[in-house]
Amino acid sequence: MAQTTLISRAQIFDRVHEMGAQISTDFSGTEMIMLCVLKGAVFFATDLARAMTLDVALDFIQVSSYGNQKYSSGVVTILKEPQLDMHGKAVLIVEDIIDSGLSMREVFRYIESRGASRVKTATFLDKPKSRKVPFQADYVGFSIEPQFVIGYGLDFAEKYRNIPEIQVLSE
Ligand code: PRP
Repeated sequence: MAQTTLISRAQIFDRVHEMGAQISTDFSGTEMIMLCVLKGAVFFATDLARAMTLDVALDFIQVSSYGNQKYSSGVVTILKEPQLDMHGKAVLIVEDIIDSGLSMREVFRYIESRGASRVKTATFLDKPKSRKVPFQADYVGFSIEPQFVIGYGLDFAEKYRNIPEIQVLSE
């Protein structure tokens, strides 16, 4: 396996701070729940929260679509439900990557069904060419080509999440 840098630590830092500033402006004066989609988005969500000037409540949801495979199985299951009451709240769903769009579509529908008054989505990476269902995030860190990436929360069979940059994993 070869690993090559795609997005450096400095690029991540700069972009996350830009996103944090933008989201802080857009959500100014609202009570926000940041909903982190486990596990991959943990790294991005904690950096993003610290780049924001808002008070944010933090919650987690876990869905599964990949298992230990490189490609999505197409079936999305909710493994862990959020704990906070979302009713009448503004919720920012935070993902590390949107690939087929299946996970985000499922999480979005689920949060809407919990009575949130405003649901927005932020993803660190977006692979628009890999969609199986249409989904457009409100905030996108970087759009990338359909290649297999690791690091900054993204894994391959649970490895590589703690690499502090985005790398392309190739044979
Ligand atoms: C990955 C990623 C997104 C999802 C994106 O999660 O973190 O949640 O897949 O793919 P999609 O757009 O094709 O649905 P995964 O299920 O691998 O869990 P993990 O975050 O725990 O690694």
